[in-house]
Amino acid sequence: MIVLGVESSCDETGLALYDTGRGLLAHALHSQVAMHEEYGGVVPELASRDHIRRAIPLLQETLKRADVAPADIDAIAYTQGPGLAGALLVGSSIACSLGLALDKPVLGVHHLEGHLLSPLLASDPPEFPFVALLVSGGHTQLMRVDGVGQYELLGETLDDAAGEAFDKSAKLLGLGYPGGPAISRLAEFGDPAAYKLPRPMLHSKDLNFSFSGLKTAVLTVVKNQGAANVCEQDKANIARGFVDAIVDVLVAKCVAALKQTGLKRLVIAGGVGANSQLRAALNAAAEKKRFRVYYPELEFCTDNGAMIAFAGAMRLSINPQAARRDYAFNV
Ligand code: KG4
Ligand code: ZN
Repeated sequence: MIVLGVESSCDETGLALYDTGRGLLAHALHSQVAMHEEYGGVVPELASRDHIRRAIPLLQETLKRADVAPADIDAIAYTQGPGLAGALLVGSSIACSLGLALDKPVLGVHHLEGHLLSPLLASDPPEFPFVALLVSGGHTQLMRVDGVGQYELLGETLDDAAGEAFDKSAKLLGLGYPGGPAISRLAEFGDPAAYKLPRPMLHSKDLNFSFSGLKTAVLTVVKNQGAANVCEQDKANIARGFVDAIVDVLVAKCVAALKQTGLKRLVIAGGVGANSQLRAALNAAAEKKRFRVYYPELEFCTDNGAMIAFAGAMRLSINPQAARRDYAFNV
């Protein structure tokens, strides 16, 4: 079965073809980061319009790379939500129009399920069950995953998502958008002893997170010094203080979730999963506490079409009736 995946929930247009027999056949992606950069964040109207411009050429590129004819597609999966309404509508309308034209069923996929299952696209995928840490720009959740569609929420952020904290703190330091990679790079040059920032909810007895206080701590440091007086080395030191704090909390909660569930496999998904400091700290914890940690390929950490095609294919493998033929736009 060949499934076309369409991702357009935020600022990446992703198309992919996944074959349940042969695996990922091809994928193509366009990131709008450069377009939104000058505004310091995603501008929804611009995002929708750019998805419209990019989607069809990316689809043609994906079909060509995979050497697949449109008629060979068995089903079309698209990101149904959560995301920006206008952006989601582009993916939904493309999927439904194609479905109608080709007489193929369509399936709306939850964006987070796409992220959650993306490590299964790797060459050495984890077996079920596992604990998943989902860390993206919009969400921070710990889940117990027993199989496709069998998810139990163990804990989540009570306010900002981890990626949001990265982006907002980066903005306070005058770094570009998206801030996650920028603040991470800068932190490499920072002194870990210069700023000890708070580790919110580190010792709470549950598996929830809170990151808005950490962002406020960055704001307070910057304000106290006067933004104009924060020199480059200081910026790096603050970045280091921020990254160390957020990584400490994420790792501690992952370890606690493994302990609570008794599981030995941890899966990291979502954009923040690309973070090198987080990966290094998780790898060290895994060695010490004797669990195994799995990451998606770097290119599948952030939004992409492959994870949507894959999640759609998995859903359809379990229940072929999951796709529909009413072709009503549904986001
Ligand atoms: O999963 P994703 O592409 O989109 C959402 O579904 O939100 O995640 C985007 C988030 C952004 O907040 C971005 O700053 C963060 O992931 N991110 C990173 C890194 N790469 C992306 N954060 C920290 N370090 C990185 N290397
Ligand atoms: Zn995402």
